Amino acid sequence: MKATARAHTNIALIKYWGKRNESLILPTNSNLSVTLDGFSTETTVHFQEDLKKDIFLLNEQNVEGNALEKVAVFLDKVRALSGKELYAQIQSVNHVPTAAGFASSASGLAALAAASAKAIGISLDDTELSKLARQGSGSACRSIYGGFVEWQMGEREDGADSFAVQVAGKSHWDIRIAAVVLSKTTKKVSSREGMRRTVETSPFYAGWLEQTPKDLQEIKQAIAEKDFEKMGSIAEANCLRMHATTLGANPPFTYWQDTTMRVMQTVQNLREKGIPVFFTIDAGPNVKVLYLSEDEDKVKKRLQSIEGVEDIIVSKPGSGISYL
Ligand code: DP6
Repeated sequence: MKATARAHTNIALIKYWGKRNESLILPTNSNLSVTLDGFSTETTVHFQEDLKKDIFLLNEQNVEGNALEKVAVFLDKVRALSGKELYAQIQSVNHVPTAAGFASSASGLAALAAASAKAIGISLDDTELSKLARQGSGSACRSIYGGFVEWQMGEREDGADSFAVQVAGKSHWDIRIAAVVLSKTTKKVSSREGMRRTVETSPFYAGWLEQTPKDLQEIKQAIAEKDFEKMGSIAEANCLRMHATTLGANPPFTYWQDTTMRVMQTVQNLREKGIPVFFTIDAGPNVKVLYLSEDEDKVKKRLQSIEGVEDIIVSKPGSGISYL
């Protein structure tokens, strides 16, 4: 009744931004990410007869409140699947090099899904596991796989056709993704709340829905052809369109800070100097920068010199779920 799994987080190149079903976590658009080898979560789930409730330890600290609730609600789904009414002790360790705003629900819920299913004795293939992880956090369904991963939105009301598939393995393309950690990050609107508010109130959301399927088609072709300029420019434009929708929401909001903008401008300046480098940003102020390995020194040095940047953590495409 005990199992341990490791999952890596991922960064979306075509964003998931909006739900058509909140409880099953079904998206309004298909999307695509690359799994990162630099950030992972290791989770052990131990179901025990004598527990009266779930117990959650994150980085060896006991967790209560909303974070425990999220884990318990997810485990209810696993209990329902297995038909076993057992509570668990969950021990998670986030391998995130710095504290600043990089705790990821994608690696966390993917590792929790894999470890809990195995511990309670239900055997799921990767597709079923992806569907289960999706119900914990949408982006987690992509972290079941390594490399380049598409979350196919599906059409069905019950979510049976909404899961991730691998588009290319991690050794397909040796690109670099630098996570630029900012020294000061203010409290953000959660991605859950941010996407809800945008779907409900932003008149720009219709434009997002119209353009994103085209971006996805083109980026898949760019990945297949290893066309870095094409891949990077589509990812950057898609990110900017996602963030544009938040400015049209009511009340309006943005995830960007002054340093976020400085990093974006630096990336664009490097590009003007002929270095192929692109950015993408999730629901927070930190920026991820995409480039090729031969440009590592130049890109890192330039990013490190930006005022307000604390650290640069470089990843390559990483692997999917593993059991320890
Ligand atoms: C901006 O997967 O964290 O990072 O499904 O509500 O848990 P929930 O949201 P989450 O949202 C991620 C949004 C994003 C884009 C992306 O990763 O595709």
